[in-house]
Amino acid sequence: MTASALPMVVPLPGLPDRVRIHEVGARDGLQNEKGTVPTEVKAEFVRRLAGAGLTTIEATSFVHPKWVPQLADAEQLFPLVGDLPVALPVLVPNERGLDRALALGARRVAVFASATESFARANLNRTVDEALAMLEPVVARAKAADVHVRGYLSMCFGDPWEGAVPVPQVVRVCRALIDMGCDELSLGDTIGVATPGHVLALLTALTAERVPTDVLGVHFHDTYGQALANTLAALQYGVSTVDASAGGLGGCPYAKSATGNLATEDLVWMLRGLGIDTGVDLGRLVATSAWMAGHLGRPSPSRTVRALSHEDAPADPKEQ
Ligand code: HMG
Ligand code: MG
Repeated sequence: MTASALPMVVPLPGLPDRVRIHEVGARDGLQNEKGTVPTEVKAEFVRRLAGAGLTTIEATSFVHPKWVPQLADAEQLFPLVGDLPVALPVLVPNERGLDRALALGARRVAVFASATESFARANLNRTVDEALAMLEPVVARAKAADVHVRGYLSMCFGDPWEGAVPVPQVVRVCRALIDMGCDELSLGDTIGVATPGHVLALLTALTAERVPTDVLGVHFHDTYGQALANTLAALQYGVSTVDASAGGLGGCPYAKSATGNLATEDLVWMLRGLGIDTGVDLGRLVATSAWMAGHLGRPSPSRTVRALSHEDAPADPKEQ
């Protein structure tokens, strides 16, 4: 990457000084791949992400291996990366998942709920309230073990079966996750249909329900190219945790029309231009995504990765 390939720094008033990126490429990204990536490649991906300066890297998922076979190697993967000096949250859907994560020494877990009945059924085989009941002992036991708990809420804006999701419906489940004891809450636009006004409406409604903005993160998939605009709206509201996926990998196997997450590189490019510190080395991150694109056999969808690398022809991973 050349120095000229960096944005000019021109701050915008009213934004957080620092943004914490919650990197989900190794989990949200790889759970949606058609093929299964070898465990050692996943581990190297996580190591390279840490080497690029990412400090929170969602490593894998202790869901039922038949539901997400792509991440069925969680037991093998976690010990390969567990000693990295970064936060390594793992996804757990229930007590069985928590047991598996705790047995390996995980210190951060992420539970996940749905704002809609259709997705709760498709993703968790439960109603919304049954899923919350399933999560309650998970959060209680994690907190008792002094384990940090992130709550994800999916379908906060639109749902592929139910259409637009009313804001009060979303706020109710957010409130339930916070009341349960989640330390942070990530608002998921699982199918990427949100637009900035909708984001602002949800954040405003959450404030009215006394949900503190500093526990909130945003998790935008980029199906309609809105993820960066939605992120800026959230930053302007005061949110300072943003989920993103290296190279724009991602999606959910149980939500038709879910595509990749906001690409971490696109986010870092924007934040750098805004003068907001992330601690990420963009050149190393781009190189990591280009390397992973080589393994996956197709170019990254990230505009920034494409602009800053020459990875349009799938590379031979052995040469990188
Ligand atoms: P179920 O079939 O209802 O499971 O699935 P169950 O509770 O009836 O248990 C059936 C059997 O599975 C039992 O075994 C359990 O022990 C076993 P048996 O007694 O019959 O021998 N079992 C497990 N084994 C290993 N690990 C486990 C586990 N749980 C049960 N954790 C379940 C319910 C929640 C397990 C299933 O629906 C599931 O795994 N779903 C996960 C789906 C998923 O991972 N989706 C993608 C992640 S969410 C996402 O991507 C969205 C997000 O990015 C935010 C956004 O974008 O919106 C986070
Ligand atoms: Mg997601």
